[in-house]
Amino acid sequence: MADLNFQNRTLYHGDNLDFLRGMNSETVHLIATDPPFNKNRDFHATPNSLASGARFQDRWSWERDVHEEWMDSIKDDWPGVWEVIDAANMSYGRDMGAFLCWLGVRIIEMRRVLRQDGSLYLHIDHTAHAYVKALMDGVFGHRNFRNEIIWFYKTGGVSKRWFGRKHDTILFYSKSNEYKFTLQKEKSYLSHRYGFSNVDIQEDEQGIFNMVTMRDVWDIPALRGNQPEATGYPTQKPLALYERMIRASSGPGDIVLDPFCGCATTPIAAERLDRQWVGIDIWEDAYQTVLDRLEQEQLAILNEDEDGEQASRRLLTFGDVTYSKGPPERTDDNEVAAPSFRLKMRRPIEPWQKITHRQMVNILVKAQGSADGVICAGCGRVLEKEFMEIDHILPKSDRGENHIMNRILLCRPCNGRKRDNFTLRGLVRENKKKNVAWMRDEARAQIAQSKATEFAEWVRDNFQSSECQELIRQD
Ligand SMILES: C[S@@+](CC[C@H](N)C(=O)[O-])C[C@H]1O[C@@H](n2cnc3c(N)ncnc32)[C@H](O)[C@@H]1O
Repeated sequence: MADLNFQNRTLYHGDNLDFLRGMNSETVHLIATDPPFNKNRDFHATPNSLASGARFQDRWSWERDVHEEWMDSIKDDWPGVWEVIDAANMSYGRDMGAFLCWLGVRIIEMRRVLRQDGSLYLHIDHTAHAYVKALMDGVFGHRNFRNEIIWFYKTGGVSKRWFGRKHDTILFYSKSNEYKFTLQKEKSYLSHRYGFSNVDIQEDEQGIFNMVTMRDVWDIPALRGNQPEATGYPTQKPLALYERMIRASSGPGDIVLDPFCGCATTPIAAERLDRQWVGIDIWEDAYQTVLDRLEQEQLAILNEDEDGEQASRRLLTFGDVTYSKGPPERTDDNEVAAPSFRLKMRRPIEPWQKITHRQMVNILVKAQGSADGVICAGCGRVLEKEFMEIDHILPKSDRGENHIMNRILLCRPCNGRKRDNFTLRGLVRENKKKNVAWMRDEARAQIAQSKATEFAEWVRDNFQSSECQELIRQD
C-alpha cells in the first residue's frame, strides 16, 4: 500500500478533481459519495439553518463545465467511457454528456485512489442513473458491480401524472474481486406473533420484529427539517444511510473518503463508527458546518499515552480537524498503482503509445500539412487545421487502437461519414461512389494518408530523440 499523503479528519475546500489528483494511489478503503445528479436546477439551503447561505449548481454544459484536457484523456485512455458519454449526448442531450464527462474524470481518479480491496458507493437518482451505471461499468468493469441499492423513502409530494418517485439509487462497485464486505442484518417487522415459533422474535416501540439479512432495498426515512441532525443543507442525506455503507464495506480505523461531502454526512458517520475520514467540497462553509455537527454530536476521540495504550477519551475540538484549500502533493511518483482493469493487458504499453490526443493532432497537422493548409485524408480538400478532426484509421469497433499509428486527420464531413462505419479506404470509396460534393482529389487524399503513416512510424522509431520531443511539444 502506498504512503498516505493526507491526514485523518481533513476537510479540503475546492474542486475535488484537484484534490483527488493530489492523493496517492491506493490509499483509501471506502468512498461513499453523493455528487450532483444533473437535475438542471440550483439548490439553496434553508434560511437560518446551520448551512444557511449554501447553494450549488446542478446544470451542465460542454462549453462551461468541461475542459478539453478531460475529453482528451478519456478519449485516449478510456475509450469505452467515451462511448457512453457520446451515447448520452445523442440519446438524452448534450447536458447529460457534459455531466458524464465532468463526473467521469472524477470517478477515474476515485478508482485510482481506492485500495485493491476498496469499494465505492455512488448515490444517484433517476435522472442520470442509467447513464452513470454504464459509465461506472466502463471505469470499474461490470464484473466489479456489486449492487444497485434502492434507498426508499416516503417524504415529499407525488405527481398526478406518474407514480410517486420515492427512491434514489446507490451504485456499489468494488475495485477488485477481493473486497472488504461484512454482511449486515436489519429488523424485519412482523404483523403478528403467531406462526413464527421457530424464529427469534423481539419487540421494540414499533412492534414485533426478527433480524434478517439486509437486502438491496433500504427503507430509511428521508430527513425532515425538524430532526436534530438536519442542518438545512439542501441535499443533506440521513446519517443512517451512510452508516450502513460504512459498516458493510470498512472496518474500524479504515479510511473513508467523500469527495462531494456537502454538510459532511459521510465524515460524521465515519467518525461515529471510529473510521478515519477525508471530505472534499467546493462549498466554502463546509468546514464550519462540520465543526458544528461534530460538536452537536458530542463526538469524542481516544487519547493514547506515549506507549500507544488507550488513556482517556476527550471531545473532538476545533484543532482536531485539518482544513486546507491546497491539494496534497503526491509522494508516490505518480504511480498508477493499479492499472485500469482494461489495461491489465496482453502486452506492455510503449512510451510512444502514450502520446496525448493534442500531441497526436500536432504530429498529424505536420504530416498532412501543405503550403495552403492541412489535407483531408478522406477527400483531399485543403483546409485550415481548425476544420480538421482526428479519427481512427481502423475503427475502434474493429479493435482499432488509440495510438498515433492508427490515427488520421479528416475534415468534419468526412469524419461524420466515416465514424465506425468505414475503414479509411472504405470512406474514400464511399465518397467517390456517392459523388459527395466536397470530394476533391483522391490522389491527394492518398498522399496525405501515406504521409501520416510515414510520420507516425518515424515518431514510433525516434520517440526519445530531441527532434521528436520538440515536435510533440509544438502547438
Ligand atoms: C448532493 S450534494 C452532497 C450532499 C451530502 N451527501 C450531504 O449529506 O450533505 C453534492 C455536493 O457536491 C458539491 N460539489 C459540486 N461540485 C463539486 C466539485 N467540483 N468539487 C467538490 N464538491 C463539489 C456541492 O457543493 C454539494 O455540496
